[in-house]
Amino acid sequence: MMAQQNWTAQPWADSELLECAMVIPESADCATIAFRAPSGAWFDYQPGQFLTLELPVPGGPLLRTYTISSSPSRPLSLSITVKAQAGSLGTRWLLDHLKPGMQIKAHGPAGAFSFHRHPARKYLFISAGSGITPMMAMTTWAWDSGEMPDIVFVHAAKTPSDIIFRERLEQFANRVPGLQLRFTVEEADPFRVWPGYKGRLSQIMLGLMASDYLEREVFCCGPAPFMQAVREMLQSLGFDMTRYHEESFAAPALEEAPVALREAPTAAEITFARSGKTLATDGTETLLAVAKRAGLNIPSSCNFGLCGTCKVQKTGGEVSMVHNGGISEEEIADGMVLACCARPIGAVSLDL
Ligand SMILES: Cc1cc2nc3c(=O)[nH]c(=O)nc-3n(C[C@H](O)[C@H](O)[C@H](O)COP(=O)(O)OP(=O)(O)OC[C@H]3O[C@@H](n4cnc5c(N)ncnc54)[C@H](O)[C@@H]3O)c2cc1C
Ligand code: FES
Repeated sequence: MMAQQNWTAQPWADSELLECAMVIPESADCATIAFRAPSGAWFDYQPGQFLTLELPVPGGPLLRTYTISSSPSRPLSLSITVKAQAGSLGTRWLLDHLKPGMQIKAHGPAGAFSFHRHPARKYLFISAGSGITPMMAMTTWAWDSGEMPDIVFVHAAKTPSDIIFRERLEQFANRVPGLQLRFTVEEADPFRVWPGYKGRLSQIMLGLMASDYLEREVFCCGPAPFMQAVREMLQSLGFDMTRYHEESFAAPALEEAPVALREAPTAAEITFARSGKTLATDGTETLLAVAKRAGLNIPSSCNFGLCGTCKVQKTGGEVSMVHNGGISEEEIADGMVLACCARPIGAVSLDL
């Protein structure tokens, strides 16, 4: 018998305890995990946003950020779709140990990578690997809205079996003309015909997949080299890059060192006011690194200024901060800083 949902008609809170409802295998080392809120809250977010989970791995909680792969048009549950790489700690723990009924703490939602923020008549989604998750959330929203916009959905995978959500996307696309799927794989599966594209995404392939790409709002998500190749391709094709949006799952490779690293080290110190500790530094270390040296734990996840997990209150002094959108202008004006990407200039004090 299906469990009755204890619905409170309240939206979920910034920090909500989630209960694992289902673990659905997707492909090798990849699964979708569906959660519900034991509080009965419903899930309100923008399709494409992410959350940060506190994973209870041995040795202490590990914070990991995942895009919400479900759509807020289906607010009773929420899912993430995770793919573990070799050497993974957090995602591997999710795949091996998270079982229905277990509860974990979630923080969020956050993030600006959503087509809700960039209304357009035509979209081009370009993803690779687990970068498909925000595209799935946005496509499900588009489907559920009943007004299927014009979406060309380009996805690159290693083999056809690695295409996450393939059947669900094909079900959508089989029934509406507005969604056009274009998959490309590095190699075909053995003993199975692959009638789609093969090889890396190229200018010629893009032109065949979406001949009107210049008219589309582009959303791109995948490994850093993949996104760099897409950016360079679009730039050289004369695409208006103000209509290009991307989400990075890992720290972008720096073409230039941050200002604080390019300048000669200068004496600085950080006072952790509540802990009564002051540590000297040369101004090249982040607040997060100095806090760690002081034996203080600032929760962190992405470590490149995107997820907002490491936000702390600055009570004095100046910092140099190069972030990736994890903090708003209002928060900065209120003295908040992201510890993972802020470096002290002279003497700084933190409410920690
Ligand atoms: C906004 C955002 C959205 C995201 N969405 C998704 C999503 O939808 N799905 C998804 O699967 N992921 C997503 N991620 C990525 C996710 O947050 C994790 O970063 C990723 O899964 C890696 O974490 P992990 O615990 O699996 O691996 P980690 O344990 O953090 O290891 C990461 C890699 O580093 C290497 N490594 C680990 N420890 C060491 C060491 N000591 N020395 C050398 N190398 C080491 C490992 O080989 C491994 O490949 C997202 C990230 C962001 C920022
Ligand atoms: S850890 Fe993600 S913004 Fe600092």
